[in-house]
Amino acid sequence: MSPCTTIADHTALMHFTTPLRLPGTSGRFRIIDVDGEQPLTLTARREALEILPGQPIEQLVYHTAQGGQTTLHPVLRVRAGATFTAELVNQLAEDTTLHWHGLHVAEAVDGSHLYPVAPGERRIYQFPVLNRSGLYWYHPHAHGSTARQVYEGLAGLLVVEDDEELALRAALDLELGVTDIPLVLQDRRLAHDGRVVYAPDPISAVMGYEGETILVNQTPKPTLSVATRLYRFRVLNGANTRTFRLAVVAAEDGQVVPVTLIGTDGGLLTHPVSVHELFLAPGERADLLLDLRDATVGATLALVSLAFDPMHHGMGSGGPPAHGSQGAGRPAGAMGGMYQPPTLASGAAFPILRLDVTRAEPYYRAIPSPLSRLAPMETSAALERKLALSLEVGMCEGRMAMQWLIAGQRLELDRDAIVVQRNSTEIWAFANVARSMPHPMHLHGFSFQVLSREGSPPQVAALALDDEGRTATDLGWKDTVLVWPGETVRVIIRFAHPFPGAQRYMVHCHMLEHEENGMMLHVRVA
Ligand code: C2O
Ligand code: CU
Ligand code: CU
Repeated sequence: MSPCTTIADHTALMHFTTPLRLPGTSGRFRIIDVDGEQPLTLTARREALEILPGQPIEQLVYHTAQGGQTTLHPVLRVRAGATFTAELVNQLAEDTTLHWHGLHVAEAVDGSHLYPVAPGERRIYQFPVLNRSGLYWYHPHAHGSTARQVYEGLAGLLVVEDDEELALRAALDLELGVTDIPLVLQDRRLAHDGRVVYAPDPISAVMGYEGETILVNQTPKPTLSVATRLYRFRVLNGANTRTFRLAVVAAEDGQVVPVTLIGTDGGLLTHPVSVHELFLAPGERADLLLDLRDATVGATLALVSLAFDPMHHGMGSGGPPAHGSQGAGRPAGAMGGMYQPPTLASGAAFPILRLDVTRAEPYYRAIPSPLSRLAPMETSAALERKLALSLEVGMCEGRMAMQWLIAGQRLELDRDAIVVQRNSTEIWAFANVARSMPHPMHLHGFSFQVLSREGSPPQVAALALDDEGRTATDLGWKDTVLVWPGETVRVIIRFAHPFPGAQRYMVHCHMLEHEENGMMLHVRVA
């Protein structure tokens, strides 16, 4: 019997009965087209909203009353080349911002901590949409409160569309919210009354905070009824810390059903790639096709996270955790009592979404190939910069202090740690030490391509598709790349932007507790 059987058999999936919340024409996640100078108003505020069915609880929401219709966390849709205008109204009791994750925008509208919006204030974010089609997202990025505000609810999707994207959707007969389904994966610690609890202890505040309730589009234990046709799932890992090892399995025999990866953070790949599994770390997106043409009506499948070694070695010996895949960076000695590991361990296996094949549908479309063009970048003149990722453990006023570092440095608000020549091309080698955790490294303002992956742990090396050690998810445009302990991942970035003057961006780990701990540097493109 396959080990997958235990996570996706009918018993485990029996409780997956809540209809998946979908973007559509009303309510939460309504799709709103944004175009032009007239701002879409997004109000960040506290509001009662259901996560567990029948239990409305106060959480943080993005609220908009566009066109007389109230929407929470709208899915914003924009055309490439159009002007995007949104206004943030801060009705929280603290600073917040709107950051457009993955978009190539100027510093002043990037929504980083450089431009906080105080309680009661407003800010307009207006920019030309320079990105190609892809699934991007928006979330707050205020200093010291990003992790908590995201965890407490502030996040939404932004879909950029261009001709290539529309052609693909026409070719495959896909409709956003119906057969082209965005999936936002998050894990949450919930109290008995359904309240979201963000209360990291001193260890989790540095190592990361995970919850035991997996939500898909804010739906716990979701189910979706599907037909015998092709589906597209555009998946965002919107969790603070948890990485997923995604696969689709058949409930009947636990066998992995291959899916086709067609895109990454920054849009479509050149060619579809068939994969059995993929890692998706916080901040990353994957564009997947699932072919159910040969499925039997009555069959059940599940999107799952397979078991893996989370490699949370920061606190320990540097070797694999003693508890195998159950280990979540067990701290030694005195710190032990303060640390509450998640009841759903990092790297544990669990079902994410139940898929019930409920009807037959004739479907004769084929996946086009090539999907897109991806010009390789000129590496010859590129400056190579090594950015070591490490953890410093020391004592501070009699207490143990832990600091994540990029190139030996932590965030300093008045210092631009990295200065890049405008229009230059650089290769950044993220070199993660062995005694570490995986770090999904994210850059604002620019997309990049992955050149190579070296020193990969076996569970990653097993997924390599080329001599450079790259996995399927390394083959497209990225803005967030997962760097495992002991790995060096080289990416190439062209620092060209059309904005007047020098621009400051952020490079940081997208495990939001690491970012909050200071694992972030300013990048000045001058
Ligand atoms: Cu999605 Cu600087 O972050
Ligand atoms: Cu970002
Ligand atoms: Cu990190």
